[in-house]
Amino acid sequence: MKKIAILGYGTVGKQVYEQIKDKAEVVKILDVRMKGDLFTESIDELLNNDIDTVFECLPNIEIAYDYQKKVLEKGIDLISSNKAIVKKHYGELVKLSNEHDCHFSFEAAVGGGIPNLHTLLDMKKHDEITYVKGIMNGTTNYILDNVFNKGMSYETALNKAIELGYAEADYSSDVDGVDVAYKIALSLSLAYDCNVDTDDMQIFGIRYLDEMAIEYAKSNGYVIKLIGYGDKDNAFVLPRFIKREEVMASIPMNYNCIEIGSRNQESIKLIGQGAGGVPTADALVSDYYRPFDRLSIDNNLIIKNDMVCTVYVDGEISKMKISDIEKRDCFI
Ligand code: HSE
Repeated sequence: MKKIAILGYGTVGKQVYEQIKDKAEVVKILDVRMKGDLFTESIDELLNNDIDTVFECLPNIEIAYDYQKKVLEKGIDLISSNKAIVKKHYGELVKLSNEHDCHFSFEAAVGGGIPNLHTLLDMKKHDEITYVKGIMNGTTNYILDNVFNKGMSYETALNKAIELGYAEADYSSDVDGVDVAYKIALSLSLAYDCNVDTDDMQIFGIRYLDEMAIEYAKSNGYVIKLIGYGDKDNAFVLPRFIKREEVMASIPMNYNCIEIGSRNQESIKLIGQGAGGVPTADALVSDYYRPFDRLSIDNNLIIKNDMVCTVYVDGEISKMKISDIEKRDCFI
């Protein structure tokens, strides 16, 4: 039996333990809140054990990066769900995993339980990825679904999403679109063997959606969804009006819908639970059985965001470049 360790015993870490404990030997779990022989507060003590794979399920705290580095420097396979930390330090983590000849996988960091990154990696071996887009945040989809379809207020829906464990510890990352930006940047980095910087992206969330925009959408047959999009020239996160009859408009609750465009397939859509302990842990465990191949950051994308879109601003419709869009706009 392979030996594993888990960093973090919260919503996701606990579920990883439940799902892996009969499949591998869980040697140690790092969590300062827990007591008992299985638990430790020290990464060094944890790494003194003979371990094949570490699951990292910590929140967005910088110490998680120090731990990830230590794991890779020991040549141990790393599986992470930590999109913020993985994105912020992507270049260094890829280099370290290659230098120390170990696997670095993060299926759970994008789209929760949906196997979208494995799909992307499989497709790019024989096809050319043209874009990645979709609903990539369970919290905001839960809020918008409740606002549009159940008449719930924004605040009530946000509080319920927090209670259900969908939101980040700091939910501004969800409602301001930053969480989706990490996911788009990671998807593009895998698709094009590069290291996309979220500072180059246009990022607006749903915090500033006003009643007028919501009423406009409802009376013209639209719903609003928070959409992430990326291709070789554009990378952005924006609230978008979507016609009620489109597939993306019907994505409910904490579900995500990730669309991958490609030369041969045109497009495929993957739909599933984008947030929550059980599906996210399942994605981490999937990396244990099928780790990512060696990653590369050799290419450089120049994000121009010069795609021209039809945009709604305060009741008016106009055309503008993505790079010119401002906070309270919705593009159609
Ligand atoms: N807060 C994230 C979401 C968790 O709501 O999608 C999963 O990445």
